[in-house]
Amino acid sequence: MLHIFILFALFFSSTSHASVQDFCVADLKGPDSPAGFFCKAPANVTVDDFVFTGLKLAGNTSNIISAAVSPAFVAQFPGVNGLGLSIARLDLAPAGVIPLHTHPGASEILLVVHGKITVGFISSANSVYVKTLKRGEVFVFPQGLLHFQVNAAGYKATAFASFNSPNPGLQITDFALFANNLTSALVEKTTFLDHAQVKKLKAILGGTG
Ligand SMILES: *[C@@H]1O[C@H](CO)[C@@H](O)[C@H](O)[C@H]1NC(C)=O
Ligand SMILES: *[C@@H]1O[C@H](CO)[C@@H](O)[C@H](O)[C@H]1NC(C)=O
Ligand SMILES: *[C@@H]1O[C@H](CO)[C@@H](O)[C@H](O)[C@H]1NC(C)=O
Repeated sequence: MLHIFILFALFFSSTSHASVQDFCVADLKGPDSPAGFFCKAPANVTVDDFVFTGLKLAGNTSNIISAAVSPAFVAQFPGVNGLGLSIARLDLAPAGVIPLHTHPGASEILLVVHGKITVGFISSANSVYVKTLKRGEVFVFPQGLLHFQVNAAGYKATAFASFNSPNPGLQITDFALFANNLTSALVEKTTFLDHAQVKKLKAILGGTG
């Protein structure tokens, strides 16, 4: 009798959790927070919330870095909200470079699917880890560290990068320094670069001041 009681107790305790939240497709109309977006009403969720087709085609590399990053982060792909992961496509023209940058919110794992890419990161102890990857090879970039990707062949390269956050963030160091209105005097003081170099980079990257 006791056994039957325990079985019933287990049955009811497991069915009472039947409404466990399997997913939380982002409602992008609401606010973002460290815990992610609010959930779209489950009744309004369809299979298409779990599909992202924006990585099929190469990104446009006609820009000053000759490269494109196509993100499938929560803002583009609301289905990854709350799941602790996301993905992006990297396209590098022959001269392409993803300049030194960080993802404050995620580690990154990169798989080269076409071409050759020189990748590297700089640890917080300022040790340098650099490797040229061929098709099929994978590299991991620890969270928050400065890193880069450079085309290492005379033809275009493609890679896919996955992140352990739906919202990894992306801060490109040159843009942080030279694409805003932090005064040249302060940029020079805090980077030890000379005035001409700071003005030149601000002109290229759209900074003022
Ligand atoms: C589902 O979407 C419709 C149309 O956007 C909206 O009017 C309705 O309130 C949504 N349902 C729920 C439960 O939020
Ligand atoms: C790529 O970007 C450049 C510069 O913004 C633009 O002129 C060009 O039309 C774009 N190409 C395509 C195919 O969208
Ligand atoms: C710099 O830009 C910010 C917003 O982008 C603005 O609030 C601020 O007034 C600007 N500072 C100067 C010195 O132009």
